[in-house]
Amino acid sequence: MEYATELEATISDMVQKGRGILAADESSPTIAKRFKAIDVESTEAHRRAWRSLLVTTEGLGEYISGIILFEETLGQNTDDGKTIPEAAWAQKIVPGIKVDKGKIPLALSPGDLITQGLDGLAERLRAYKQQGARFAKWREVYSIDKHAPSLHGIEANAEMLARYAAVCQSEGLVPIVEPEVLMDGDHDIDRHAQVSEAVQHAVFHALHRHHVALELMILKPNMVLPGKDCRRAEPDEIAAATLKTLRRTVPAAVPSINFLSGGQDPEEATANLNALNRQGQNAPWRLSISYGRALQQTALQAWKGKPENVPAAQRALRERARMNHLAMLGEYRPDMETAA
Ligand code: 13P
Repeated sequence: MEYATELEATISDMVQKGRGILAADESSPTIAKRFKAIDVESTEAHRRAWRSLLVTTEGLGEYISGIILFEETLGQNTDDGKTIPEAAWAQKIVPGIKVDKGKIPLALSPGDLITQGLDGLAERLRAYKQQGARFAKWREVYSIDKHAPSLHGIEANAEMLARYAAVCQSEGLVPIVEPEVLMDGDHDIDRHAQVSEAVQHAVFHALHRHHVALELMILKPNMVLPGKDCRRAEPDEIAAATLKTLRRTVPAAVPSINFLSGGQDPEEATANLNALNRQGQNAPWRLSISYGRALQQTALQAWKGKPENVPAAQRALRERARMNHLAMLGEYRPDMETAA
């Protein structure tokens, strides 16, 4: 592979004990929704201010090894004139970029979704690389219903992820492969496990067909959980179901599994990660995070769009990142939250 050395260097900068990835790649409608919750209008200036705040948080690099950015952010500057990717790398946080163009219904397949954005992807990746991106992210989404996702929906989504990952590796960017089985619905944990297993199985089969080097990618899956409208489950049950599913499907060659938070509340997401690391001590992959909401939520609440709140928001972000760092080591306890 032409860029093997470069890809290996990126993996070694990103996959490290006690460090995880911050997902700050919300699309325009999603960031508008997050800002609306704190009464802030989604203007270019506010988005720049927020994402600058994230990457300039002092000490964040101790716990965070990568940040996923949205296209617009790659070209924005912090107040001291660095580009946002440069500011991230100044604290050894590898900058990356979300490259998919979002989901649409899969035609003629009610209940299934599919993600767009493959056309022209290689050219776009070359331009993002010029702007400092060293990895990419692509998300496929599976919604659980009585008859969904269908077998053929699962196959179609796997094919997209594999084609994306192959293009990334051929251009020298590490692919984050994100198949997300949503937690919306009243299904139980067994149903979530069954769908997640079928999804991961299809994804790795497709990655193999498309010659993707598993050592040079990162998997970003959902945890296996009961649906939002079902009962709650304890971290140990979630960790056991998640590890069982991943052990059945994810080859040992994959260096790191970085979970999405998917709408779990921040403390719950940290407690679940901790249980995963305690039960998964002998797992072949690193068990880390690529959280969006679960890392940003408390900081957003502290910020509220006001410059005078920047230090408090940065403290909140650093603290959330530190709690997750402890969870990656299996050393987190919920009572540390109140102590902090
Ligand atoms: P959440 O952790 O908020 O689910 O976001 C992660 C992400 O990047 C989804 O694509």
